[in-house]
This record gives sequence, structure tokens and C-alpha cells, in this order.
Amino acid sequence: MEPSKELIEEKIREGRAFVARWEIDENLFEGYLTDQDKKLPQPPLVKEAMTDNVMDLPRDFSALAINNDFLGIINSRESHRVYTGETMSLLELSYLLWCTQGIKEIRGRAYATLRTVPCGGARHEFECYMAVRDVDGLEPGLYHYLPMHHQIEYLDAPDSLDEFISASLCGQAWTAKANVVFYYSAVFYRAEWRYGITTHRVLLIDSGHITENMYLAATSIGLGGCAIGAVDGNLCDSSFRLDGEEEAMFYAMPVGKVKAEDKSKEKEFYAFVDEQNL
Ligand SMILES: Cc1cc2nc3c(=O)[nH]c(=O)nc-3n(C[C@H](O)[C@H](O)[C@H](O)COP(=O)(O)O)c2cc1C
Repeated sequence: MEPSKELIEEKIREGRAFVARWEIDENLFEGYLTDQDKKLPQPPLVKEAMTDNVMDLPRDFSALAINNDFLGIINSRESHRVYTGETMSLLELSYLLWCTQGIKEIRGRAYATLRTVPCGGARHEFECYMAVRDVDGLEPGLYHYLPMHHQIEYLDAPDSLDEFISASLCGQAWTAKANVVFYYSAVFYRAEWRYGITTHRVLLIDSGHITENMYLAATSIGLGGCAIGAVDGNLCDSSFRLDGEEEAMFYAMPVGKVKAEDKSKEKEFYAFVDEQNL
């Protein structure tokens, strides 16, 4: 049965209020202190490895043919949903991780990480996971990025990696042709410690920086990807061993090898626009 008009209107209003911060009634929260204000201990800057299966990633990117034409990259950035099936190198994967979540510096003794992307208060409350399908030298399966030392850890191999990828991105089967799918979780308290009740809206703003850097980094080395908001959070949480409360998956981006000749195949995803004369 179709939900009532009133219910939909209420949901829309809730969504608008979340973006516009109407829900923070200054009077109601007068005197509110965050845990940082209360001088409570700060949570860890990154999540520790969950396994012993840790490997170092290469950090010298000089062997990559990186396009340094900044405006050219900006102008050619686009979403790619068709991948060639050629293998991605470990150095390319390492470069993508560095450009999107790499840690350049620590602020203070251990106050914050400074990364290749900006983030409100440098909280960097995100963790990056991967479903690796086809990267040279890596066993296909699920991985976790360890940014403190630019490493990855191998977590698991689902029965069918391709089925997992497609289901985890709400049935978008084309994503299971990418070389790697990057998944992003939020470790909420890492930001809540500082920002308390105002954390969650900024968290969503910040996540966009990660995928934009991914788009630009991928473009700069001849790869392509597509940000994905349609993520099955429950399936991702259970598959990547997240509790779904303190840490939950909410965003993803498949990336793969692409070629210019596939432009017409890319256009098929939007064939309905012409068909329906939109
Ligand atoms: C937050 C976000 C969520 C998105 N979710 C999806 C998605 O679930 N499926 C999809 O095919 N494209 C998704 N996209 C890609 C957009 O459809 C795409 O950016 C848009 O059509 C503009 O095309 P362009 O990126 O080539 O400029 C998403 C993009 C963003 C930024």
C-alpha cells in the first residue's frame, strides 16, 4: 500500500530539517557540552587492524603515468559504469587510497590526522574498506585500509564476491565488473567526541570530498569510477564486521580500468532520457 501523503510530507520535512539544522533548538540545548568540552579522553584517530593479514602498500608513485593537466582532469571527470576488465596494478590501488584517505601528518602529539582530503575539525571519522576483484598481486576478497602506515589488511572472501558487490550496492550489477569497490563507513564517535549532536550533517558533507578526490585521482591515471549512494548498509556491516551502531557503512565507489571507446556503452545508462524525451 502506498504510504500516506502526510507521512511522506513528514519525512521530507525531517530531511530538510536535518540539512538546514532546524532540529538544533538553541534554547533546548543551552549549556550543552560535547565530550571534548568535558575533557573526556579522545577516541583513536584510526581503527586498528582487525587481523594479522597486513601488507604494506607502495608509496613511491613515480612509476605511474600521472596526468598533471589539472584543468584537463577537472573537465574530463565523469562517472564511469563500464570497465574494460584489464587488471589494476597494486601501485594504482595504492595511489587511489593515498589520494583519498592518505595521512600526511599528525596535528599535535596525537590530536588529529591531516590527510589528502579536508574534513571538519580534521576528525576524519571514516574508514575505507574494499572489495578487491582484480588487482595485481592481491587475493580477491574484502580488505580494510590502514591509513596510519599506508597498509591494507585482508579480511575475508565472500562465497561469491561478484554477488556480494552487486547486492551490497542494491542490485547495481554493473558494479561487479569494477576492479575494486571502495566502501566508506563512519566511526561516529570519532567526530561526536568533538561535535556532539551537530556531527552527522557535517559528516555527510565531508564524505563527498573523499569520492571527489577518488574521481580526480582515477581520472589522472586513466581509471574511472562512480560514487554510489545506494548502499545496503546492513549487508555491508555484517560482511565487513561492523556493528552498525558505532560504525556503519554508508557510501561506496567502484573503480576500474576504462577506455574512451566505451563512451557509447556509458550512454546506454541514460538512454531513457532520449527515449522519454526528458
Ligand atoms: C552521492 C552520490 C551518489 C550517487 N549514487 C549513484 C548510484 O547509486 N548509482 C549510480 O549509477 N550513480 C550514482 N551517482 C553518480 C551520479 O549519477 C552522477 O554523478 C551524475 O549522473 C552526474 O554524472 P557525472 O558524474 O558523469 O558528471 C552518485 C553520485 C553521487 C555524488
